[in-house]
Amino acid sequence: MADLSQFIDIHSHILPGLDDGPKNLAESTAMARCYAGAGIRTIIATPHYINGTAWAAQAHKVRETVNELNRHLAREQIDLQIHTGMEIAYHPKVTEYISKNLLLSLAGTTYYLIEPSFQGSQEHLLHSARTLLQAGKKIIIAHAERIDAFQRDPRPLLQLVERGLEIQVNMDSFLDKFDERCQQTAWQLLRAGGVHYLASDAHATKHRCPPTPADWDALENLLGVETLTNLCINNPRRLLAAS
Ligand SMILES: [Fe+2]
Repeated sequence: MADLSQFIDIHSHILPGLDDGPKNLAESTAMARCYAGAGIRTIIATPHYINGTAWAAQAHKVRETVNELNRHLAREQIDLQIHTGMEIAYHPKVTEYISKNLLLSLAGTTYYLIEPSFQGSQEHLLHSARTLLQAGKKIIIAHAERIDAFQRDPRPLLQLVERGLEIQVNMDSFLDKFDERCQQTAWQLLRAGGVHYLASDAHATKHRCPPTPADWDALENLLGVETLTNLCINNPRRLLAAS
């Protein structure tokens, strides 16, 4: 039987009403039951932050929503601890906003999860990431394998990995639930030492849902125990312990 109890999901859209995740508390609770049912006990909530859109909850709102959901889950006796975070869509002011502490890091650490735009040049994003790394921030690129430019040529991304950039890949990409290019790029990044975290990017209880024990078994077969442990347990644990 797969043991997911030590898995820490660093990318999850579990908060109600802030983005394209659950619409309300009932849907969030249903997602939490999926996590707890699989034995998962710790996750980081990462609602989309897309500057200038309706999906741009302020830091205090995200904190408040996480606190409310944690209290609700405790009342419902659902054993799941949720940390604060954001999936920050890249925009030109990201560097300034992060430097001014206007955006939430992952679990109050110095790690920020940044989502590139799916199409187009990533030159500005990589430049901003370099600037933030130099300023002592830790930057994780969300689901890099889904980004067209990195599918075409991951080398600029991998060059920044050598300077401390970290990469999160979606579990579904290895499980063949996106398209073939995502899967190929996920493997290419992994073989090049450019994957640091595997996470669910869960949005709901059915399609794009928290991982199941069957998913975990499949990932273990594909990646091996050591890699899976590093990407899903050891590296997220190190992240949570970082200040
Ligand atoms: Fe996401």
